[in-house]
Amino acid sequence: MDTQPQTAAGKVLMHFAISLDGFVAGPGHTMDFMAGMTVRPGLHDEYIQTTGAVLAGRDGYDSAIGDSRPYGGAWQGPIFVLTHHPEDARPSEDITFLSCDVPEAVRIGLEAAQGKNLEIFSPTIGKQALELGLVDEIDLHLAPVLLGDGIRLYDAPGSKPVRLAMVGDAAKRAVNLRYRPEPAS
Ligand SMILES: NC(=O)c1ccc[n+]([C@@H]2O[C@H](COP(=O)([O-])OP(=O)(O)OC[C@H]3O[C@@H](n4cnc5c(N)ncnc54)[C@H](OP(=O)(O)O)[C@@H]3O)[C@@H](O)[C@H]2O)c1
Repeated sequence: MDTQPQTAAGKVLMHFAISLDGFVAGPGHTMDFMAGMTVRPGLHDEYIQTTGAVLAGRDGYDSAIGDSRPYGGAWQGPIFVLTHHPEDARPSEDITFLSCDVPEAVRIGLEAAQGKNLEIFSPTIGKQALELGLVDEIDLHLAPVLLGDGIRLYDAPGSKPVRLAMVGDAAKRAVNLRYRPEPAS
């Protein structure tokens, strides 16, 4: 089972690789849970072709994006980092720091994406955008691992459930998955 190919349509996506228990990073923003993870042929290229701009948060920038680039550098385009205090951000010539509200950040990102999609690379900003009705899709690549701790995709204790429908499938169908534990390496 897999999703329809992604298309460039001026959409706002939350886009993450995620552990089976719902974390997009481990404790301390570690990303090594993705090591060795494979995806179906062509998947990365779909996102590289359809992404026009990236919106990230300050913690993600400070912990990872400052040193690395989306899609291992295979994607080129405008990257925006939202922060309340851009003045102490480590400057980078291809990154624009924004200090504004989320709707304005999304508007700027979509304009920069020029008809392609804006990818939100931050659960914190994604949650705010979702609550504001600004998210068109949540695109996830489920890694076969349990982390137990880290940065959650959606960290909102006490909130109401956010109902979702599978893109391209009208039914509110559960996805069936079967895993077996692997020996520890
Ligand atoms: N698994 C994946 O595919 C994937 C992809 C991308 C990112 N990630 C991970 O996702 C994690 C991101 O973590 P996160 O969501 O906890 O942090 P984050 O969004 O990267 O950073 C949070 C910070 O962003 C700024 N911010 C957020 N909302 C704001 C607003 N409305 N106005 C102004 N500034 C705002 C604030 O910075 P200030 O404190 O400076 O104001 C806030 O403290 C990282 O670990 C990253 O590696 C994973």
